[in-house]
Amino acid sequence: MSYQVLARKYRPTAFADVAGQEVVSRTLANAISSGRVAQAYLFSGPRGVGKTSMARILAKALACDQGPTTEPCGVCRHCVMINQGSHPDILEIDAARFNSVDDVRQLADQTSFAPSQARLRLYIMDEAHMLSTAAWNALLKVLEEPPPHVRFIFATTEADKVLPTVLSRCQRFDFRSIGLEDITARLKEICIREEVPVEEALLRRIARAAAGGMRDAQTILDQLIAVSEGKPDGADLALLLGSARGEDVETIVGHLLASQAAGAIDAVENAIAGGTAAAVLLEQLIDHVRGMLLVQACGAQAPAVRRLGLLTPGLEAHAKSCPPERALRMCQLLIGSQQALRQGVDPRLQLELACVRLAGLGQLNNLDDLIRRLERLESSTPAPPRP
Ligand SMILES: Nc1ncnc2c1ncn2[C@@H]1O[C@H](COP(=O)(O)OP(=O)(O)OP(=O)(O)O)[C@@H](O)[C@H]1O
Ligand SMILES: [Mg+2]
Ligand SMILES: [Zn+2]
Repeated sequence: MSYQVLARKYRPTAFADVAGQEVVSRTLANAISSGRVAQAYLFSGPRGVGKTSMARILAKALACDQGPTTEPCGVCRHCVMINQGSHPDILEIDAARFNSVDDVRQLADQTSFAPSQARLRLYIMDEAHMLSTAAWNALLKVLEEPPPHVRFIFATTEADKVLPTVLSRCQRFDFRSIGLEDITARLKEICIREEVPVEEALLRRIARAAAGGMRDAQTILDQLIAVSEGKPDGADLALLLGSARGEDVETIVGHLLASQAAGAIDAVENAIAGGTAAAVLLEQLIDHVRGMLLVQACGAQAPAVRRLGLLTPGLEAHAKSCPPERALRMCQLLIGSQQALRQGVDPRLQLELACVRLAGLGQLNNLDDLIRRLERLESSTPAPPRP
């Protein structure tokens, strides 16, 4: 049997199945129930968050033998063909490749023919921002007054590049990047169905790395399963993401908290020699300290901490042992390094400087302490008598 990548295998097939896009799902479902489906939609939003999936679901909802319905059956010939992407009346067009004026004119001419099998003909135009102005102009007239059996869905990651004349003829939906919880939950479901054991903490790290993109998350999971034999672990994932292993980050922070700059710099060297990019490592350090701050502020069980998906016994211990002001200062210094890095300062130099500064904070704390004691001493000594 041929292998199908997870991201395709688990494409959502019903409105309720699309994670994190409830507003769009609900509005479309309402439009179908009330018979007010627009003739042209624009789906905009980041990559891999469900635009094409939603377009296909809408297609099924309209074309299904039971339809129009908000719950397409999934088994009639229309539903099956749409799921496979082979329905003759539901045309998926990649505007990146199909953008000559002739192509578009031909398409516009075709719209006047009746659909061959379904009760409508739907054009799903992906990467719509790639259409040239001339191509759009060839389409505008049909878009203005499409024949009753014709519908358009334009999908784009760059809505601001779509002409205003087009925008004004479409009903627009902005798809959002998907939340960490939603992505983690979906990954968990996939692992159960695939019967691969992956710890939830790892799934959260994948979800974080995917930064809101469901397809990216599923692709990382796919790769993780492929590279690891049997049970994927943190080291496999770190290797895959080009990030340092969790324990390496903990070692670095441990040295910093113990005011051991040399140890921290050594551990940084090791991580970089192991293939971690300095910028990625800096980001991980920031995350770790941020995790400490959150644990200190809200407790280890708080949703904010869980959302970050980084809690380990090591991090919790660091949070306990480090005064909050110091953790805050660490975070500020690290963010400063990150900004310097964006301005092109040598990343390794930046990391080394950060280590020295952060390790020095312990001393500074002592200094703070000293000043406070001096102040206390001063206020308790009686003021000298006035002359
Ligand atoms: N909201 C979502 N809920 C569940 N799975 C999703 C969601 N978004 C994306 N996916 C997963 O990612 C895959 C790709 O999604 P889809 O093709 O709908 O993304 P897209 O928004 O059209 O992306 P692109 O801008 O790259 O075309 C799907 O097959 C599915 O596995
Ligand atoms: Mg798409
Ligand atoms: Zn059906």
